[in-house]
Amino acid sequence: MKNTLIAPSILSADFGNVYESIELINKSEADWIHCDVMDGRFVPNISFGFPVLAAVKRVAKKTMDVHLMIVEPENYLNDFKKAGADILTVHIEASPHLHRTVNAIRDLGMRPGVAINPHTSIELLNEIICDIDLVCLMSVNPGFGGQKFIENTYSKIERLKNLIISRNSNAKIEIDGGVDFSNALKLVRAGADVLVAGNTVFGAKNPLEAISKLKFSVADTIKS
Ligand code: DX5
Ligand code: ZN
Repeated sequence: MKNTLIAPSILSADFGNVYESIELINKSEADWIHCDVMDGRFVPNISFGFPVLAAVKRVAKKTMDVHLMIVEPENYLNDFKKAGADILTVHIEASPHLHRTVNAIRDLGMRPGVAINPHTSIELLNEIICDIDLVCLMSVNPGFGGQKFIENTYSKIERLKNLIISRNSNAKIEIDGGVDFSNALKLVRAGADVLVAGNTVFGAKNPLEAISKLKFSVADTIKS
């Protein structure tokens, strides 16, 4: 049976109690911790940087999945490694020398991912798909948690899945933005491997239960 990975996004967590949020993720059914780094230039919002990531890393027992929404990510790869990133995802729209950046991420001992905005075509991944471990399909315009899911994502997942299979790539498909209990199963059936969830987890009365509900709502699918 396919094991869909759940990656709670700490962007929606209470940063006054970030330690408790990480401990909660540690004891949950979550697989990864999704950390959104925003610079106020690539996206119209600023989130957090190296000191916060390093603090999260000190407590985290799960894979640290770092999503960079910053310009010139290639200038900071070593700093993100030092801050504890296990997976480092850069945006295709922010990376004119993507192949070089992806290889540098791998050389530093991290798993490289590439994120694409809702308007960006899957076809632009053709020449990089065999070099990466993750494609982060943005299902909202990046910058904020709690936004409405964009329905066109389903057809992008299917086209991406076809590309991954045809090129014999090992890249996982991660869906980021607006994931909730109403679309999780449909996303997994379309081909998603990793579901990021911010508001659905940290906006819930019981975040631990919300993670468990997400994990098991998609667990009955696809025997392969
Ligand atoms: C948006 C971020 C997301 C965000 C998702 O730019 O990349 O990871 O935290 O939040 P929700 O699940 O609330 O849409
Ligand atoms: Zn993200």
